[in-house]
Amino acid sequence: MTAYTTTSPERVTTWFRAGHTSQFPVGAGATIKYGDRQIAVFYFHRTDRWYACQNLCPHKLENVLGRGLIGEQDGIPKVACPLHKRTFSLETGENLNGECPPVAVYPVKIENDYVYVGFAD
Ligand code: FES
Repeated sequence: MTAYTTTSPERVTTWFRAGHTSQFPVGAGATIKYGDRQIAVFYFHRTDRWYACQNLCPHKLENVLGRGLIGEQDGIPKVACPLHKRTFSLETGENLNGECPPVAVYPVKIENDYVYVGFAD
C-alpha cells in the first residue's frame, strides 16, 4: 500500500506543482495525484491559508478526505471525513474526535499563483 508520511517544510525535496490557484475551490478541498498518491488540498479563504493531507481516510481506508467539510476547532484548521465525520487537524494530522491514526500532512506554498505541495520522496 502507498505510504503517506507527514512532511515538514525543512524536509521537502520536491515541490510538486499541483495547479493554478484558480483551479482549486474556495473554502473546500480538491484532490491531486502525486505518483500513486492521492493528496487532498484545501484553501481556507478566511485565513488565506492552504493545507494538504493524504486523501485516504484512515478509518475505513476510503479516498474521500478531499470531499470533506473544512472548518476550525479551537483555532485548528480541520477536515471532516464525508463518510463518518472523523475529523483531522490539517496542522498535525491528528484525529480530533476519535481514536483513528493520524493522516499525513504536507506543506503547501503559493508562488506566482501556482499551488505547490511539498514531498520528501
Ligand atoms: S471512512 Fe472516514 S470517517 Fe469513516
